[in-house]
Amino acid sequence: MASFQVPPLLLLLLIATIPLISAFHDLAGDFLRLPSQASPNDNNNEGTRWAILIAGSNGYWNYRHQSDVCHAYQVLRKGGLKEENIIVFMYDDIAYNEENPRPGVIINSPHGDNVYEGVPKDYTGEDVTVGNFFAALLGNKSALSGGSGKVVDSGPNDRIFVYYSDHGGPGVLGMPTDPYLYAIDLIEVLKIKHAAGTYKSLVFYLEACESGSIFEGLLPEGLNIYTTTASNAEESSWGTYCPGENPSPPPEYETCLGDLYSVAWMEDSDKHNLLTETLHQQYELVKERTSNGNSNYGSHVMQYGDIELSKDSLFLYLGSNPSNENFTFLGRNSLVSPSKAINQRDADLIHFWDKFRKAPQGSPRKVAAEKQILEAMSHRLHIDDSIKLVGKVLFGMKKAPEVLTSVRPAGQPLVDDWDCLKSLVRTFETYCGSLSQYGMKHMRSFANFCNAGIHREQMAEASAQACTNVPVNPWSSLHRGFSA
Ligand SMILES: *[C@@H]1O[C@H](CO)[C@@H](O)[C@H](O)[C@H]1NC(C)=O
Ligand SMILES: *[C@@H]1O[C@H](CO)[C@@H](O)[C@H](O)[C@H]1NC(C)=O
Repeated sequence: MASFQVPPLLLLLLIATIPLISAFHDLAGDFLRLPSQASPNDNNNEGTRWAILIAGSNGYWNYRHQSDVCHAYQVLRKGGLKEENIIVFMYDDIAYNEENPRPGVIINSPHGDNVYEGVPKDYTGEDVTVGNFFAALLGNKSALSGGSGKVVDSGPNDRIFVYYSDHGGPGVLGMPTDPYLYAIDLIEVLKIKHAAGTYKSLVFYLEACESGSIFEGLLPEGLNIYTTTASNAEESSWGTYCPGENPSPPPEYETCLGDLYSVAWMEDSDKHNLLTETLHQQYELVKERTSNGNSNYGSHVMQYGDIELSKDSLFLYLGSNPSNENFTFLGRNSLVSPSKAINQRDADLIHFWDKFRKAPQGSPRKVAAEKQILEAMSHRLHIDDSIKLVGKVLFGMKKAPEVLTSVRPAGQPLVDDWDCLKSLVRTFETYCGSLSQYGMKHMRSFANFCNAGIHREQMAEASAQACTNVPVNPWSSLHRGFSA
């Protein structure tokens, strides 16, 4: 039997260290470092931190998504990540938008600092695409089209953080360009990234309506991926700091400044010591704040993938701001929940309405705002009615409502045949016009059609019957949406 001998020199060193350790404990009060907690000095052996930040929308009424992403960039920079390791996707039509009351400035909370400052323009405008997002994540430069060329050029010890803020629908996330992002394609890319062995672990924070549906029943364990989503698979996520809310944006802002789940994780990260706070602790805090006292103005934050990764400290992904090092973790939200929040899907209407309300009587601005409200409303009616009608044509009056709205049990993916889903959506859009950001809410109905065995030809026939004409309207344009 081999006996274990401590070399005398090491023993001496150990003994000499004990008083130091207790001195440290005295200094730091009852602070005790657990093995799972990182220290800033662990930097050398822990690889590089990478991040991809994506705002999937454009338009001033969607101010909040790009504002969220700019804020996330500031969190990461304060945490010590380098610009070269943070890849930003944002359309970049907000800071200098004619509607922006503070040109060149973007804020993410009513009294917030300018979060636009220094944000790199990696992928902007028409370069904010699904293809470029996947290429950047996979580190595949030759698959890029446009943009700065920055990609996640990661190695096996590196950690990756992905944050996406946008509209979504069951199984789908928006993009300011066509096509939108389908859950199955994202999962496929994550599997390829894992198979390439180019990360140690990956954390994905996702804000969108029905964002749980992107991972539910789809993201397997064992990929070293931990993800939290703003909502479960069946509900909306929420904008916050919206006109008319408390706290509300400064009066000159006619748009929501942030999103409920997003500001919850970022305002937490702004204050807390991320060396000691774990992903799990943040999940609990964000979940509580986003549920908004279980009111109707909130959603259920979910987690998927390798849940055991959530005992990691946030520092491993977000870095840590040295000025927060003395923050004592209280284990509860010191940040107040808003009195109200705005459903993602209604935030555009809030913008148009606020614009309309404030514009002087008879002004061109009032006329324009009224037109925008009417266009958005008529698009909604058209899409809602068309899908109901398609359902009736396919399944009959009696059975249609059930097929349109049924939800599979938790833990199951939305649909089995994703090619069918894509093809039915494309077919519908060919006859009825773009679903656009609002129409994404109907993805579950399309999925249910596929699950019930409907084929493309049947869909084409039903859509042709339901949509004898497509309204001429920017939202319904045949050049937008999934089909392009
Ligand atoms: C990178 O993208 C190109 C173009 O899409 C593709 O042909 C190639 O196989 C990809 N390379 C890797 C390593 O995935
Ligand atoms: C944290 O506390 C220590 C000890 O009291 C102090 O020396 C240090 O300056 C503080 N750090 C910050 C950022 O306030």
